[in-house]
Amino acid sequence: MVGKYLARPGLAIMALLAAGVALYSLRYYGALTDRWLDVDPKIHAVITQVPVRALTHMLIAPVALLLGPFQFFSRLRAKYPKVHRGSGRVYVAACVIAGIGGLATAPSASGGPVAGLGFGILAVLWVATTLGAWRAAVQRQFALHRLLMRFSYAMTFGAVTLRLQIPIGLALGFSDYSAMSVWLAYTSWVPNVIIVALYSVTEALRRPLAPATV
Ligand code: HEM
Repeated sequence: MVGKYLARPGLAIMALLAAGVALYSLRYYGALTDRWLDVDPKIHAVITQVPVRALTHMLIAPVALLLGPFQFFSRLRAKYPKVHRGSGRVYVAACVIAGIGGLATAPSASGGPVAGLGFGILAVLWVATTLGAWRAAVQRQFALHRLLMRFSYAMTFGAVTLRLQIPIGLALGFSDYSAMSVWLAYTSWVPNVIIVALYSVTEALRRPLAPATV
């Protein structure tokens, strides 16, 4: 009961943070016309090195970040099921395209191979989980669909937790984003996945058992 009321403000805060990070990412459109607005010099170098891969990722991933939270509002889902399906398809397409772009960019990550490995693992899990969630919806396995979409968005939301962790890294003495990205490539998403796993297990344990049929 309490969880139900806490869930809505939680979702609203998640949507606001996601929108903030997604809108801030619009500055990467400037790269298409060689205008670099508040872009970290080492990320600038990554884009210069692998422009199609990096920009495919950086310009499309924000679409998934922005749409994701609205998919979890149960009232919206119940009232406008067609909107949920349409926006869900765009979310899946954005994750798959941006995930492939992220995977292709990972070997050039500004933080070096250890950071690249973290982002690479994330990309593979992100695409696989999202495609699994989509397949479950098509097969009308809605409990599995909901569970996998939670995991998918936990990874998408890594874009927000990564940026929230940057001030902490600076306070800890890292000189810039690239220096701390060896850690961020893991700490930005592993805790999110653990939180979703714990939440889902707790929810399953709380649910009353279905009455025996035999
Ligand atoms: C969840 C799977 C994701 C993977 C595997 C991934 C992977 C990567 C990689 C490898 C880089 C280059 C980092 C570097 O050179 O240090 C990068 C940067 C970036 N990614 Fe992602 N990313 C993911 C999610 C997202 C999402 C959801 C967004 C939405 C905003 C996003 C937006 C960006 C942006 C804007 C950059 C440029 C660096 C920055 O501004 O911090 N990524 N990503």
